[in-house]
Amino acid sequence: MASPLPAFVSPDVMDVLLSKEQIAERVQAIGHQISEDYEGQSIVLIGVLKGAAIFLADLARAIKVDNTFDFVAVSSYGRARVSSGAVKLIKDIDNPIEGKHVILVEDILDTGLTLSYLRGLMLQHKPASLKIATCLDKPERRLVPIEADYACFKIPNKFVIGYGMDYAERYRGIPDIRIYPENPPGH
Ligand code: IMP
Ligand code: MG
Repeated sequence: MASPLPAFVSPDVMDVLLSKEQIAERVQAIGHQISEDYEGQSIVLIGVLKGAAIFLADLARAIKVDNTFDFVAVSSYGRARVSSGAVKLIKDIDNPIEGKHVILVEDILDTGLTLSYLRGLMLQHKPASLKIATCLDKPERRLVPIEADYACFKIPNKFVIGYGMDYAERYRGIPDIRIYPENPPGH
């Protein structure tokens, strides 16, 4: 049987790590960079559900070159704050990417297990090129060697929520990025 949901912690008591204005500015900059790098080409953005949905929505609107979206889903952390290490594909891409320029879009590059698994899987489809865009990068936590081609922010080893990112599926709709407390009330 599933364990009970952790108590709701008001985001108002959580410290803001990155404001929505800071996020918007960096997303615009990355979108501009991608538009320059792929000038005259078409790209496929592949978002990793669910965390990357909001970042992808903003990034796509900041990219000026021809682009389409697709989404994949992988097994998540569930309610735990640490990864089990095992990654499993739950939803595959809908359209073929062979010969296409692909950018995998992720919310956080943490241990790197998710993106190295997805990168390997996507390379089997023989895209013309494959790059990685992530909103956040926690370099201290890396277990496998993988780097993002585009990252909005490098952050310290803190658990964060908001801007698509969750704790036990909550807080994805918070517009800024906040630090989830280490000892929240009711835990
Ligand atoms: P990795 O395989 O360890 O790189 O896991 C990356 C995934 O873990 C991200 O897509 C997030 O879903 C999740 N994750 C890692 N750190 C955080 C965090 O601080 N808050 C919310 N989710 C996180
Ligand atoms: Mg995720």
